[in-house]
Amino acid sequence: MSKGYVVAVVGATGVVGKEMIETLQERKFPVAKLIPLASERSAGSTIDFKGNTIDVDVLNDESFIGVDFALFSAGGSISEKYAPLAVKSGAVVIDNTSHFRMDNDVPLIVPEVNGDAIKGHKGIIANPNCSTAQMVLLLKPIYDAVGIERIVVSTYQSVSGAGKDAIQELESQSRANLSGSDYQGNVFKSPIAFNVIPQIDVFLDNGYTKEEMKMIQETQKILRDDTIRITATAVRVPVFVGHSESINIQTKEYLSADDARKLFEAAPGVSVLDSPLEQEYPTPRQVAGEDNVFVGRIRNDLSIRNGIELWCVGDNLKKGAALNAVQIAEFLVQSRVTA
Ligand code: A2P
Repeated sequence: MSKGYVVAVVGATGVVGKEMIETLQERKFPVAKLIPLASERSAGSTIDFKGNTIDVDVLNDESFIGVDFALFSAGGSISEKYAPLAVKSGAVVIDNTSHFRMDNDVPLIVPEVNGDAIKGHKGIIANPNCSTAQMVLLLKPIYDAVGIERIVVSTYQSVSGAGKDAIQELESQSRANLSGSDYQGNVFKSPIAFNVIPQIDVFLDNGYTKEEMKMIQETQKILRDDTIRITATAVRVPVFVGHSESINIQTKEYLSADDARKLFEAAPGVSVLDSPLEQEYPTPRQVAGEDNVFVGRIRNDLSIRNGIELWCVGDNLKKGAALNAVQIAEFLVQSRVTA
């Protein structure tokens, strides 16, 4: 066996799982053995990794024997059942589902923002919601510089965030509609082709959706400040990859748009694309496939004294999911090495 770690990917045939495997390869994470895991539906299928063809195994209670890192992205109920088993077997779990994110015992990590919170983990580390991950990269430098009073965010989220069936639904429905026929989808209640849907995840008693509440609670947890007031509206748009967000940040002290731009230029994982006169600003088509989160349309809010208004786009499968998960694994490896 070559030097490195045994890495299991749960949900290896899904959109995020596949991206995790590609990211491990791309970033040369020291993988001695890869164990791709999925449901019985995928029995007999294979994946390619570093020039080898590897069989996908059906997830079971014994799947984690000898595993060092287990990356989960197969839905909350799978994480609920199997993550504790993986930890029992001695693996560190990096969980992309929302199941453990708000547990006090589980660090919720974006390495550039709160990597230090990983210390003392008890075997499970949570990867934030895709929209939260890209937003906190931008909030962190502002929070450190001038403090944050309140955030108003509206998202424009791509269908890949809802998995492979959602991608297929947008494609088939678009083709059908363009050729004049109907296509009844089963992922989205409303048609997603040529439409926008102001609902992601289920509605809660307070009128917000679960996705919106995730953004609120996870942001407060990652920035370690539950006094920040946040309101969110999460919207699904007919885009394949890349989440966009319009973010309004009310700061504690005044920050000019120019100074905000400088903070973003120095922030890890962030690229500034903000030349309105040249009509340059990030769009999902441009940002899909990129590791960094892009920010543009940076301006002072005319309606309040201390306000910054901006537009942010990130690849939801990368920083919003797979890349952040692999960065967490890298962070753990590096901190063990330097410990
Ligand atoms: P499978 O392809 O065998 O259904 P996506 O989010 O893109 O829809 O992908 C979901 C991932 O989670 C897939 O890899 C899927 O495997 C996996 N998955 C779903 N249900 C289970 C299950 N009961 N056990 C193991 N893996 C599962």
